[in-house]
Amino acid sequence: VPSQVIAGTDERAIRHIVEVAQFDRPWIESLFQRVERMRDEPRGSDRLKGLILATLFYEPSTRTRLSFESAMHRLGGGVLSTENAGEFSSAIKGETVEDTIRMIGGYADAIVIRHNEQGAAARAAAVSAVPVLNGGDGPGEHPTQALLDLYTIMSEQGRIDGLKVALVGDLRFGRTARSLARLLTLTIGTELIYVSPPAVPMGSDVQRAVAAAGVTQRSENNLAAVLPDVDVVYQTRIQRERFATREEYEASRGVYILDRAAYDQMKPSATVLHPLPRVDEISTEVDDDPRSAYFRQAQNGVYVRMALLDLLLGGD
Ligand code: CP
Repeated sequence: VPSQVIAGTDERAIRHIVEVAQFDRPWIESLFQRVERMRDEPRGSDRLKGLILATLFYEPSTRTRLSFESAMHRLGGGVLSTENAGEFSSAIKGETVEDTIRMIGGYADAIVIRHNEQGAAARAAAVSAVPVLNGGDGPGEHPTQALLDLYTIMSEQGRIDGLKVALVGDLRFGRTARSLARLLTLTIGTELIYVSPPAVPMGSDVQRAVAAAGVTQRSENNLAAVLPDVDVVYQTRIQRERFATREEYEASRGVYILDRAAYDQMKPSATVLHPLPRVDEISTEVDDDPRSAYFRQAQNGVYVRMALLDLLLGGD
């Protein structure tokens, strides 16, 4: 982690958003207050007028890239976008991430980067003249997704403490679940339950961080045994693109599905989240159930990213 990436109670102490370990509880609470203000920001806001956000994506994205761009537009700023940067930027000619970032820092006031290599966002932040936001680095982290996930938990459950949270699916390659587990270490009285196919368990690095924070955690194979008891179910996609072979992917796929029968076992007050995209791990038959919060969660991504851009780029 570059030296300028520091945790601190001063919300302005964080210059880049690289990993969840940068955050502390006061920073999160302050950010969520800013998110609430962003929800009320009128269309045609000029808070970031004249500023430019560059989105540099070496991996595909719908939500992260478009919600960041929407956030910047809603705050009155402009956007430069490089989709599929591995092919359509000068990376294909051999340009390093570091050189690309140094140069884009002369074109834009902040950079969102998504890269297939774990640690790429930290490398970018280490050389960047402007704030860098990690939009997902391989199987590493997705800190802005974790922030919008926790914000959604707060808005759906009315609190972030004292909740039983099941993380389900691909917990090995799923950077959103990895980041959310780390972020939940800033909550009190949380119980984490990992439900994953055998090939994709939660990483020992995350489990060590959770244990060090004193958060209760356990693994469970039987989803049906977990569902009646939990407040939040965080379902994830099996990450086909990270498996070495099709056979390995197929062995993990379809093991844990949330359908009507699964919903029938859950509390009426439960919340079901998914970072999306989904394949078949949540049946469309439950999309209209009030407990299905995944589309509201995606919408919250705009407000959370508005708040982050507003914070990093000097809003009051
Ligand atoms: N949740 C998420 O990161 O989605 P995208 O891959 O579409 O950005």
